[in-house]
Amino acid sequence: MEWNSILYDKKHDFVAEYGKGLLEFIPDNKEQTILDLGCGTGTLTAQLVNLGSKVMGVDSSQNMIDKAKEQFSGIEFRVCDALDLPFEKEWDVVFSNAVFHWIDDHNALVKNIHKALKPNGLLVCEFGANGNIATIENAFAKAYKELGYDYRPKFNFPTAESFGNILTDNGFVIDNICDYDRPTILKDAEQGLANWMKQFFASELAVMPEEMQTVVFERAAELARASLWNGKEWVADYRRLRAVAHI
Ligand SMILES: C[S@@+](CC[C@H](N)C(=O)[O-])C[C@H]1O[C@@H](n2cnc3c(N)ncnc32)[C@H](O)[C@@H]1O
Repeated sequence: MEWNSILYDKKHDFVAEYGKGLLEFIPDNKEQTILDLGCGTGTLTAQLVNLGSKVMGVDSSQNMIDKAKEQFSGIEFRVCDALDLPFEKEWDVVFSNAVFHWIDDHNALVKNIHKALKPNGLLVCEFGANGNIATIENAFAKAYKELGYDYRPKFNFPTAESFGNILTDNGFVIDNICDYDRPTILKDAEQGLANWMKQFFASELAVMPEEMQTVVFERAAELARASLWNGKEWVADYRRLRAVAHI
């Protein structure tokens, strides 16, 4: 999926905002090297610069990397897939916020991270846990199907137990792993849920004309309203998985 970096920074900047809480798991050592894996538009990479001697952001989306470079010209950013990392024993810390649920093969992902880390290197990550945005995804799938389109679930939201097993099977020692509910207010009142779907279901929506997209937004909102509308704004049913593990 190609990312709309402008919509992301304008309406979904809460993703990086929440990610700031993850920074506290980065050791206090100004000499360390840090890779921001799936850096998006670079907001958190810019914070990581204060926590290490060498910091780089990589992301598979050209749009996101272009925006990151435009905003933070002094930081190195590269287009690069997490499943094909060109690093060997190069990083003390691999940091990643809100990325791993976009990647099907967590085993291959964790192997890539292991290869990129120096001995004793640390992984600090957070992403969607089992059940994340289930109400939104179900409402979208139903609305989409009613118009004759077939939604194929595309997110990989594991349990803490299954992701923990992947980490240990690949030679990591887990320092901390947990999942938790994180109800998340969407900006723009009534428009918030449609904004969210435009951003995160961009590839599904791209195959239909705009009038049909509007029908999907309205129907999905109708289906999700009883669970997610608090009378003033949409509160998305986020669930997160946080893991800190070293090799
Ligand atoms: C929700 S954004 C999070 C961006 C940033 N980490 C933040 O906290 O704002 C998810 C990012 O994951 C990136 N991504 C998805 N799959 C990827 C992959 N296989 N390799 C590298 N980046 C990936 C997307 O391009 C997108 O920029």
